[in-house]
Amino acid sequence: MINKTKQTSTAKLEVKGKTVELPVYSGTDGPDVVDVKRLYAEAGVFTLDPGFTSTGSCESQITFINGEEGILLHRGYPIDQLAENSGFLEVCYLLLNGELPTQPEFKAFSGRITQHTMLHTQMDRFFDGFRRDSHPMAMLTGTVGAMSAFYPGAMDSSDPEERNLAYIRLLAKMPTLAARIYKYNIGQPFVDPINDLGYAENFLRMCFSITAEKYVPNPTVIRAMDRLLILQADHEQNASTSTVRLAGSSGAHPYAAVAAGVASLWGPSHGGANEACLRMLREIGSVDRIPEFIARAKDKNDPFRLMGFGHRVYKNYDPRAKVMQQTVHELMEALEIKNSPIMQIAMELEKIALEDEYFVEKKLYPNVDFYSGIAMDAIGFPTDMFTVLFALGRTVGWVSQLNEMIEDPSQRIGRPRQIYTGAAKRDFVPIQERR
Ligand code: SDX
Repeated sequence: MINKTKQTSTAKLEVKGKTVELPVYSGTDGPDVVDVKRLYAEAGVFTLDPGFTSTGSCESQITFINGEEGILLHRGYPIDQLAENSGFLEVCYLLLNGELPTQPEFKAFSGRITQHTMLHTQMDRFFDGFRRDSHPMAMLTGTVGAMSAFYPGAMDSSDPEERNLAYIRLLAKMPTLAARIYKYNIGQPFVDPINDLGYAENFLRMCFSITAEKYVPNPTVIRAMDRLLILQADHEQNASTSTVRLAGSSGAHPYAAVAAGVASLWGPSHGGANEACLRMLREIGSVDRIPEFIARAKDKNDPFRLMGFGHRVYKNYDPRAKVMQQTVHELMEALEIKNSPIMQIAMELEKIALEDEYFVEKKLYPNVDFYSGIAMDAIGFPTDMFTVLFALGRTVGWVSQLNEMIEDPSQRIGRPRQIYTGAAKRDFVPIQERR
């Protein structure tokens, strides 16, 4: 149950000759908030904050980020401890339920997920409608929403049982869907899940096993995949999660809300950055071309940005990037990838950028997407699959945040206002009279 904020002070706002007193709430950690919901009623003005740089959209107990110190907590647990000691499905339980599971609880939860990994056989026919070279995110955006057509009960997100079943189905089927998207792109037969494999191993087998050969899993790769999913699981009210919350606030069911989140994640400023970052590293091509790209990133007249750098919240090193970098080193060793040019360029680029006063002054550090693409590339995924893998990890964050919103007694349909600067009221002019 949320609404655990407590009023700790009052803010006085004097506007247009009126003084409005607004409650200030404190949470467990992080900045206090000024509750402005009564501002329009009492002072006749709106607030304006287009990028939501100073605006909270909700109360939440799922994830907390301290951007200045580079801290990320999921239900209070630091991301590096979860990445080191936990598994993705256990983190899914934590995000959804608020506590780490006991062994019986985890057995029941993972058993439920396992029972829902198969897709309705007619889902496979959706793929025939796509060109073979369709972008994987185009196929994911379309098929996630379409899944709801097979579960009529899912349309009613007011029923907790139906909602929870939709969350379980989404978590369970996303790997199967993502693997089919990859297989469709490369023209190989679809591989169905096997229920006695773990979540990450099942996904890797559905992607990389072929009927002609025995699939031999690499434990380091399986652990790296599981950790990649943990590192991308949730991240407060980022663009795609806010999209899921806003879509769900109208009563749209979980499949529709998550499909909206997938679409938002696709953007290169958000989840598409891992794909853009690897393409950038490939374009740089050699360490001696790094200064040229650093200069372009600093040039106000050049729209080029250093992909995988910078963050709205982190003004310090993204803690996920640290774990991701360590995962890349483990993968390179296990896969005997010696002196990877891409990794050398990434490490040198990071070193130079972190010493450059432009990046230091603007507090631009590597974010989760800087190394995640290198890890996914090392595992064997093509670049255009990277954001699909991000969506695979983020699905649990989306459904956890969606559910928290639905269960919040204070939640209402999201409907922002605006400041209007268009034409003043005027009368219609018939076309024959227009000059
Ligand atoms: C994710 O929100 C989340 O939590 C997202 C995410 C998650 O887990 O959900 O963490 C995942 O999306 C990570 C971010 C991935 N995106 C990228 O790596 C793309 C490159 N980064 C930038 O586009 C940018 O840093 C953003 C979009 C991430 C953040 O943009 P902001 O907060 O709006 O910052 P800004 O664009 O206002 O930049 C501030 C200044 C600007 O210069 P000035 O106008 O003040 O002179 O820094 C500059 C920017 O030009 N800047 C960069 C830069 N990022 C910001 N300059 C060069 N290269 C960059 N990467």
